[in-house]
Formats: sequence, structure tokens, C-alpha cells
Amino acid sequence: MRARQIKPGVQWVGAVDWDRRLFDALIPLPDGTSYNAYLVQGSEKVALIDSVDPEMWDLLVAHLEDVPVIDYLIANHGEQDHSGSIPRVLDKYPDARLVTTPKGKDILMALLHVPDERFVTVGDGETLSLGDRTLEFIHAPWVHWPETMLTYLAEERILFSGDLFGSHLATSDLFVADDGQAYEPSKRYFAEIMMPFRTSIEKHLKRLEGYEIDIIAPSHGPLHARPCFIMEAYRSWVFDPPKNTVVLPYVSMHGSTQKMVNYLVEVLVAEGVAVKQFNLADTDAGKLAMALVDAATLVIGTPTVLVGPHPAAAYAAFLTNALRPGLRFVSIIGSYGWGSKAVEQLKGMIPNLKAELLDPVIVKGLPVEDDYRALDSLARTIVEKHKEHGFA
Ligand code: FEO
Repeated sequence: MRARQIKPGVQWVGAVDWDRRLFDALIPLPDGTSYNAYLVQGSEKVALIDSVDPEMWDLLVAHLEDVPVIDYLIANHGEQDHSGSIPRVLDKYPDARLVTTPKGKDILMALLHVPDERFVTVGDGETLSLGDRTLEFIHAPWVHWPETMLTYLAEERILFSGDLFGSHLATSDLFVADDGQAYEPSKRYFAEIMMPFRTSIEKHLKRLEGYEIDIIAPSHGPLHARPCFIMEAYRSWVFDPPKNTVVLPYVSMHGSTQKMVNYLVEVLVAEGVAVKQFNLADTDAGKLAMALVDAATLVIGTPTVLVGPHPAAAYAAFLTNALRPGLRFVSIIGSYGWGSKAVEQLKGMIPNLKAELLDPVIVKGLPVEDDYRALDSLARTIVEKHKEHGFA
């Protein structure tokens, strides 16, 4: 795809990665992604904002074919999907200075061995004149790493937001064409990348209220010409209370846990609780993460394997703990043959969750009548707790 004009003198010069299916060797990318870089030409100086994944260097360099000079290379974020081509850009433009936060410098020196003399570090709120255009640097730690910053082009009211407000979505649309279609990839991306940093994002969202923004240009996915759509979505994911929803990741080997899951789901749904059920034998981790954004309760279903939880259930617990969703309640259901420490072990894997543990239901062999009554009791507790807190 060729370079594309956003405004006169402001161009998208990134790369669309239609075929990538896994990010960080962890996150599924069902819709591919993009690495957005932007060229801003002022009357006196030229800035390139971010680079692209090194695999896509050929595309970036093609966009820069007719750009004889770059004065500043702005690194909003040190992760290699944006910074990986920085050394080659600096080689191509030997007079260019690399502009980043002090923490960004530290990270880029460590990851890419960029020499000290190429850097200019900028403080929070500092500006850089390109002549008739001005870049303002807004330090925004933890969207996604501690060094992250946003760059605001005041004259055009464009916020280059780095990972914040992005989506893993390969598309030929420069701008979001349909808010409805963009919602799910944006929420999925929030769940996978941003959710652990909700507290920081809360502060950044409040600070951004002080800026007039016509366009949000993130470093992944299409740009937002209606910033209110993505900002409202972020506000709801960050500020809204959880919903009357249970997320139920589970795995079953010989059917006992499956029977328990089926029963619990039936009772919860009959009582008006929404359930998002994921069989971990074949689950897209991104969909599970997305379900956790606004759920009130997590119930993990697991059989016992060699005394502990099934590894797939352990992975779900570990992942949820890392993503730090705003869950209020957690429980565990499952089965064993001759002995189990699945509950103790799973409990030990979720120290980050500030959630109340509801009495687990762990049964020997196939569930019997008493076990179903225990599941009734768990369902009743969930319903009551959700009502008590006004989760709708
Ligand atoms: Fe898109 Fe944190 O890199």
C-alpha cells in the first residue's frame, strides 16, 4: 500500500501486515495488524513518527523513497513492532536525531544498541518546532510499557497515540469506516494489551480531555476521524462497573467437569445472568480476554491432573491474573479421581485479582445429587452478589 495523505503534509507511511497470526508469540491476530508510521513535514523540519516492524522495513523504505531528509525520528514506544526499523532509518538519515523519553532512550539503547549521540530526550509537555508545525510530547507511561509517550500535532489537532486506542486489524481503510465493525477489534486489543494498565489509562484519559483532538492516529489499525467513538469506548471499559456476567473458562477430560459446567450455566442463565463459556481445549485467548473486560465473576472449571489443575485451566488462571480485569468474584468448579489440590494451586495463581473467592465445588468422580445442590448454592450466591452490587 502506498503512502497515504491524512492532511496536507501529514502522511501515513506504515505497513499493513495482512498475514501475521500471532503477536509476541502469544496473542492471536485473527485479523492481522498494521504498524503505523507517520511523516510530518513542517516548513523547516521533517519528522517521522515511529517506524515499523523490521520484517516490514521494505515497505517503510519505499514510502521514504522521495524523502531526502528526516530531521527527527520520534519514538513513541520502544517495542520492536514500532522501533525495530529505527536503526535502519538512522542509517539512511545520518543527521536524524531520535526523540524519545528518558526511559525510552534507556530501552532503545538496550534493545537496539542505538548510540547515545543520536538521542534527544524530551520531558513531559515539551514541544518541538518543525517551523509552521509543532509537536508536543505527552508522557503516558504504561500504554503499554513504562517509557510510552503520545505525540500531539497542535496545528492539525492530531494525536499520535502509539499503542493506545489501537486495534490489531489489517484493512485498506485509512480511517475507521464503520464504528460498529471497529468496536470488537478495539475491545479485543484493549483486553490483550491495555487492560493490565487500567489505572494509568484512567489518568491519561482525564488528561486528554484538555486537548482538542480531531484525529487519533494510533500505531496499530485504522485511524479515528471521530475520536469520541474510541474515547467513549475506552471510558466505558475503564470506568464502568462490571456487568451481570460470568466468564467460565473450563476444560473436561472424561465429562464430569463438563456436566458441572452445563448445569451451572443452565441455572445461572435461568436466573438472568449472562454467561460466556470457553472450552479451553479450543479457545481463542483473545476472545477470553475480551470477555473479561466487563465481567463481574470468573468461574474456572477444571478436572484434576496429577493432583493439580489441568494445565489449560492453569493457563487461563495465569493469563487472567496477568491481564488484571476488574472481576469482583471468582470461583472454581471441577472434579478429581482420588485426590486434588487444584483449588489451592489455582488460588495461588491469581494474586493480582482483587476478587472475593466464592466457595468452590470440587467433586469426586461424576457429580451426584449433593454436588448439584452445591452448584445451585454457588449460582444463588453469584446471583445475590451481582444484585447486591447493582450489576446489570
Ligand atoms: Fe505495538 Fe507495545 O507495541
